[in-house]
Amino acid sequence: MIRPFRGFARILACALALGPAAALAGPDDDKAMAPGDAGITPGTSATTTTTSGDTLTRQYFGRTPHNLVVTLYTLTNKNGMSVSVMNYGATITSIRAPDRNGKLDDVVLGYDKFTPYLAMRDYFGATVGRYANRIARGRFTLYKVDYQLPLNDPPNSLHGGWVGFNRRLWNFEQVESDTPAVRFTYLSKDGEEGYPGNLYVSVTFSLNDDNELRISYSATTDKPTILNLSNHSYFNLGGAGSGTILADLVMLHADKFTPVDRTLIPTGEIQDVAGTPYDFRQPTAVGAHIKELDDRPQGYDFNYVLNKGYFSNYGLAATVEDPASGRRLDVYTDQPGIQFYSGNFLTGSYAGRERKRYVQYSGLVLETQHYPDSPNHDNFPSTVLQPGEEFHSTTVYKFSVEN
Ligand code: BGC
Repeated sequence: MIRPFRGFARILACALALGPAAALAGPDDDKAMAPGDAGITPGTSATTTTTSGDTLTRQYFGRTPHNLVVTLYTLTNKNGMSVSVMNYGATITSIRAPDRNGKLDDVVLGYDKFTPYLAMRDYFGATVGRYANRIARGRFTLYKVDYQLPLNDPPNSLHGGWVGFNRRLWNFEQVESDTPAVRFTYLSKDGEEGYPGNLYVSVTFSLNDDNELRISYSATTDKPTILNLSNHSYFNLGGAGSGTILADLVMLHADKFTPVDRTLIPTGEIQDVAGTPYDFRQPTAVGAHIKELDDRPQGYDFNYVLNKGYFSNYGLAATVEDPASGRRLDVYTDQPGIQFYSGNFLTGSYAGRERKRYVQYSGLVLETQHYPDSPNHDNFPSTVLQPGEEFHSTTVYKFSVEN
């Protein structure tokens, strides 16, 4: 599935003229655009066509409270499927995928404008880090040094703290490839949100003609640190805002999961799903056993231990099918776990696209990642990144239809 980078022809450039030359930014990346780059203004866009006829469009999306420009990239393949990603939080704002009749709909919760993302607290489409998921009481110890992270989900730390990667403006650059691709980079400074080490992180999004959205992460650090990166898209294969995901059939390639305490911190056990409402080894409607769950708010919010093993084996982790539209999503990853979250905390308190309310269960999240609170559990795969090491990880979301 990985296509080698080949040089690509810039057949069509600039639907409308770009502004002043972009500032240069990024530690070792002289082509990266600085966050807030003023090279693009409201109403302007620039489109590049790859050798395979796919397109990559860059446009103005809004301004941060500090008046920095937020840029949106849209990757479109020859089937008409598109993925939009902005540099605020390296966030997927839209995925338009065909149903069994070829009709395109947006299948992720999100907004067509930037401003609502500032108020939203549910991580729609965002890149989450430095440590995705929870760390108990925000504490961990690394080489005898104790660290304290912000308790933004009391009594725990969640998704990197108050200002996690989802609330940062990332640098960006187009990637030379025969498929449309954009790379976002970010330097997370030593001590930021309590984490040790200057961490240079990059996330690349690409879309091929097999309707595969590939997300590739990489990172390096100058001090030992902990790292867990994921994407937090809420999928609704029937169309965002069209209803709930309770009738979706989910299959998880996991015989075991990590049970949690009342604050959603793993107890440390690795338990069989067999005979429990957590069993998704066969395609099962999300709503089939949801009422049997004790957790409040009721719903799935668990890390599943993927059968393919701990050691960076790449393979199929999850499948979702929406019987009504025929859309199907297959999730492949090299990560050891997947957090299946059924949107339990969504309240419908803010309107989404076309003013549709995103209510409880209106999207499901499949976060490929390490297990929650791994730094405090010696029996979980390690999330420590050492200086001199290069972290690499890939997740693919493949869209297709069932007839
Ligand atoms: C977590 C949920 C949390 C949600 C926030 C998910 O990754 O598992 O517990 O409420 O993120 O949007």
